[in-house]
This record gives sequence, structure tokens and C-alpha cells, in this order.
Amino acid sequence: MNGPSPPNAQPVFRIRPARRGDAEAIKSLLGELGYPKGGDAATVNWLISHPEMELFVAGDALDKAIGVISLSHRPQLRVQGRIATIDELVVTAAWRRRGVGRALVKRAIERAKVLSCKRIELVTHRRRDEVPRAFYEACGLVEANVAVFRLAEIEPK
Ligand SMILES: CC(C)(COP(=O)(O)OP(=O)(O)OC[C@H]1O[C@@H](n2cnc3c(N)ncnc32)[C@H](O)[C@@H]1OP(=O)(O)O)[C@@H](O)C(=O)NCCC(=O)NCCS
Repeated sequence: MNGPSPPNAQPVFRIRPARRGDAEAIKSLLGELGYPKGGDAATVNWLISHPEMELFVAGDALDKAIGVISLSHRPQLRVQGRIATIDELVVTAAWRRRGVGRALVKRAIERAKVLSCKRIELVTHRRRDEVPRAFYEACGLVEANVAVFRLAEIEPK
């Protein structure tokens, strides 16, 4: 019989590469990030098989994805090497503040280092002020002095 968790028990989760079977859970996570149309199965499969994309999930005790991180990487002229960008990162609300986000970022950074990336960055919306600077700092990320410009005419309405 299962009893209550002992005090100070570590939450049980495991970071692993995403699989096709995670598509439904990833879609739900993208919904929490504010993109209800994002994370459809075809795009999840595209990322999983893409040579310059990495997709990791945190699986709970039943191996259901409760957090996801995507990382893209490509060569860049000015750094004379490969750079990596964390494109999406979300942990389901019930699992926040239990180390999942930090563990996902750590895994993505480890992978980028294996790929000999010379820069690792994360772009986030300034509107996301609910995400404390403390999180990025806890992950070793510091704010860069960059601005992002987008071509408005092709943005989805
Ligand atoms: C940002 C996010 C991924 C963090 O995931 P998480 O699993 O809750 O983060 P962790 O538990 O690993 O936190 C690591 C450290 O970051 C800091 N931190 C994280 N959330 C915090 C909060 N709400 N307030 C203060 N500090 C916080 C703490 O220092 C924490 O360590 P501690 O709990 O030992 O004090 C999660 O809040 C989330 O999914 N938010 C919505 C989506 C989003 O904004 N994504 C990021 C932009 S792409």
C-alpha cells in the first residue's frame, strides 16, 4: 500500500529525449505556455527527427511529460562555430518550484556543450514577468543587450 511521501522526499521525475508518444502531453504544455495551437503531433515529430533540433521532456513517475524544452542549434559566422537557442521551455503548473525547469535547462546546456556550441541563449517575451529573473540566474543565464525584430507581414494573425 502506498503511504504519504516522507518529509523532504525528492520529487520523482526524469529528463529524457522526447518521443512521438509525448505529442499529446507536449501539446497540453504548449497550451500552458499560451500557444493552444502549438505542439501539434506533426510538428513534434518534425522536431524529433530534425538534425539541428533537440527536444527533451521531464517524465513523472508514470513517464508522462510534465515539462518540455526545445533547443535549436546551427553554425553562425560571427562566432565561428555553433550557437544554440532554447526556443520553448515550460513546466506544468502543478510541478513548478520542484527543480524540473532547472533540470531541463541543465540537460539542454549539457547537450549544447557536447555539440561544441559557443553560445547558448534563451529568448523570452518581456510580458512573461511572472517568470522571475531568479529562475534564469539559477540556471546560470545572464541578460544580453539584444533586441529582436520580426517581419510583421508573415506573423500569424
Ligand atoms: C519558468 C519555469 C519553466 C520554471 O520551472 P520550475 O520547474 O518551476 O523551476 P525550478 O523549480 O527548477 O526553479 C529553479 C530555481 O529558479 C528560481 N525560481 C523558479 N521559479 C520561481 C518563482 N516563481 N519565484 C522565485 N524564484 C523562482 C528559484 O531560485 C528556484 O530554485 P528554488 O526553488 O530551489 O528556490 C516555469 O515557471 C514555467 O513553466 N513558467 C511558465 C512558462 C515560462 O514562462 N517559460 C519560460 C519562458 S520560455
